[in-house]
Amino acid sequence: MKTWKLEIKAESLILNSVKQRRQESTSSKDLLMIILENANSGLLTPGAAKRFIVDNCKSFYFAGYDTSAIAAQWCLMLLASHPEWQIRAHAEVEEVCSGHLPNADSLVKMKLMTMVIQESLRLYPPTMFVAREVIEEVKLGDLRIPKVMLLLLVTTMKKASVGANQLPPGPPGWPVFGNMFDLGTMPHISLSSLSRKYGPVVWLRLGTVNTMVVSSAEAAMEMFKNHDLTFAGRNITEAMRACSYNQGSMALGQHGPYWRMLRRICTTELFTNNRINETERLRTKCIDNMLRWMWDESQKKGSIELVRFVSLMSFNVIGNVMLSADLVDPQSKEGDEFFKSISRTIEWGGKPNVADFFPFLQWLDPQRIKKNMTRDMGNSLDFASRFVKQRILDRQNKKKSTKVDFLDVMLDFQGNQKDGEPADISEKNINIMILELFTASTDTTTSTIEWAMTELLRNPGVMRKVQEELNQVVGQNKCIEESKIGDLHYLQAVLKETLRLHPPVPLLVPHRAMDDTKFMSYSILKDTQILVNVWAIGRDPVCWDDPLSFKPERFFRSSTDYKGHHFQFIPFGAGRRMCVGLPLAHRMLHLALGSLVHSFEWALEDGITPEKMDMRERLGITLRKADPLKVVLKLRGGEGKS
Ligand code: HEM
Repeated sequence: MKTWKLEIKAESLILNSVKQRRQESTSSKDLLMIILENANSGLLTPGAAKRFIVDNCKSFYFAGYDTSAIAAQWCLMLLASHPEWQIRAHAEVEEVCSGHLPNADSLVKMKLMTMVIQESLRLYPPTMFVAREVIEEVKLGDLRIPKVMLLLLVTTMKKASVGANQLPPGPPGWPVFGNMFDLGTMPHISLSSLSRKYGPVVWLRLGTVNTMVVSSAEAAMEMFKNHDLTFAGRNITEAMRACSYNQGSMALGQHGPYWRMLRRICTTELFTNNRINETERLRTKCIDNMLRWMWDESQKKGSIELVRFVSLMSFNVIGNVMLSADLVDPQSKEGDEFFKSISRTIEWGGKPNVADFFPFLQWLDPQRIKKNMTRDMGNSLDFASRFVKQRILDRQNKKKSTKVDFLDVMLDFQGNQKDGEPADISEKNINIMILELFTASTDTTTSTIEWAMTELLRNPGVMRKVQEELNQVVGQNKCIEESKIGDLHYLQAVLKETLRLHPPVPLLVPHRAMDDTKFMSYSILKDTQILVNVWAIGRDPVCWDDPLSFKPERFFRSSTDYKGHHFQFIPFGAGRRMCVGLPLAHRMLHLALGSLVHSFEWALEDGITPEKMDMRERLGITLRKADPLKVVLKLRGGEGKS
C-alpha cells in the first residue's frame, strides 16, 4: 500500500478513537486525554486542533511501538546469545514475580532486568537519528546554523561512537539472516571476491554474529602486530561445546590462565627440538609402515587412494608421540574404531550449523549436529580415557617406562597455581587434549600431503626436480633422515608453495575480539568474530607474481617462511594463537612427502592426464581435495631402501 493511503487510514483510525472517547464519560487520565485537553485549550483553531491531535497520536504511537518492539527484540537476542545472563534473568523473574505476570511494583525490583535493558539500549539504540528543526539562527563553535535547517541528532549512546558508519565496509544484508547467504559453500572463495569489491577488511553480519574478515597481508600484519591480544579470543561453535570440549581444549580455549598453561606445556615440553628429535625413530617407523601398506594395496588393487594411508600414518605418529602406541594398521579393529570416531568428530566439527548464527536456536539443535557430535566425541573421549586409565594403573604398579611421552608429561604436570592457573590437569581434560592433538594434526597434515602430491603430478617437471634433489642429498636407495630436511631446499619450496595455494585451515580458527577496539580506523565491537582469509592472502596478486601457478622456485629468491613473521604467507596463523604444533608438522610433512616421492614412481589412473586432474576443493574442518587423489605406484629403482 502507498504511504499516503496508510496515512489516511491511520488518521481516520485516530479520529474515530477520539470521537469514541468524547462520547464516553471517563475520568481516567491517559495520554489521549492529555492530548485532547491541550487541543481544546482554546489557543488553537478547530483545524489546528485536529492536526495537533492527529500528529501527537501518531508520534506517540509509532515512536513508542517501533522503538519498544526493536528494543525488546534486541534484549531477547542478547539474552539468547548469552545463556549465563538468560539463566540469571529467569531466576530474577521467578524470585520477584513468583509465577505471576510482572506489574509496576515488580518491575522496580528487577534490577538485573533493568541492567539487561540498559545494556541492550547502549549497544543497539532503536533510534540512531532524531531530526530537529532549527527555529532560530544559532552558532555552534565557528559554525553558523541558519533557521529552518534540519539537524540530525545522533543518539548519545554507545552505538554512536561505535556506529555503523565506523564499521568496515561490507555488502548489505538481509533482515534477520544478514549476510549468511553471501558465504555459500566455499566461504574462503566468496569472501575473497567480497574483499575485491569492499577492500581488505570486510564487515558481515552472519545471523546475530558480527564478523570481520581480514583479507590482505597488510591488514593481517596490523592485526597480529598491534591487536594480537585483543583478538586472541576464540569464537566457539555449538558443536564444539559437546561434552564440554571447549572447556578443556587449547585450540578453542579462551585466552586466559588455563589456555596459557596448556600452551606452555606444549611449547616447553612437547614440541621442543629435543623432544621432537627423541621421537624421530617413531616417525620413521610410521612412515615405513605407510609405504609398505600402500605398496601391498597397490599390488592387490592396481591403484590406491592416497589420503587413507597418509591419515593412518599421521594418526600413528601422534599416537606414538603422545601415548607410545601404534594405534592403527589396516587390520586392527580397536584402533580403527578410534580412528573412525575421531574422523566422524572432525566431520561434525566442520559442518555449518544454523544454531551458530542464531544462538536462540541452540536448544533446538535443528540439524542434530550437537547430538551427533556428543555421541561421536563421547566415543572418542572414551577411547582416549582407556589409555589414560591404563597408564595411571601402570604407574601405580610402578610399571613406569623410562621413555616419557606426552601422556606422562600431562600426568606429571604441576601448575604453579598463580594467576588462576590450576594445580594439575584433570583426567577429563587430559582426554580432551589427546583428542585435540589427534584432530588438529591428522586432517591438516593429510590434506597438505594430498595437495602436494596432486600438484607434483600436475607438474611433472617439478616432480623430477624433487626426485633429483632427493637422489643427490639423501642418495638413491637410502631412507630420508630428518637431519637432511635443511638441505632439501626444493622439497621445502614445494611444501611452501602447496601451503600457499592450499592452506588446510583457509580462514584460520575463528578469533574473537575480547574488547571493543579500533582497528585500522574502524570500530570493532567486543565479541566480533574475526576470520583471516589466508587462502585469499596466499593468492593475492599484490604479494605474489603469477599467483595461481604452482612455482616452488619463487621461494628460492626470498626468505619468506610460514613461521608467522611474513604476513603474506601465514598458513599456520601468527601471533599468540598460532599453530602450536608447527615444529612437529614441519618434520612430519617433509619426512612424509620426501619419503613418498623418493620411494615410488607416481602415475595417475588410466585416462587421467595432468591437465584433466580434478582440482575442486571441499571445505570441512580443513580444506580437502573434493575428489580424493587416486594413484598408481611403481617402486623407484626397483629396489627397497636401506
Ligand atoms: C600442515 C599442518 C598444520 C597446519 C597447516 C596447521 C594450521 C593451524 C592453524 C591455521 C591454526 C590456527 C591459528 C590461528 O587461529 O591463528 C592452528 C592451531 C593449532 N594447531 Fe595446527 N596446523 C598443523 C598441524 C598441527 C599439528 C601437527 C598439531 C599438533 C600435534 C597442531 C596443533 C594445533 C593446536 C593445538 C592449535 C591451537 C593453538 C591455539 O589456539 O593456541 N597443528 N593450526
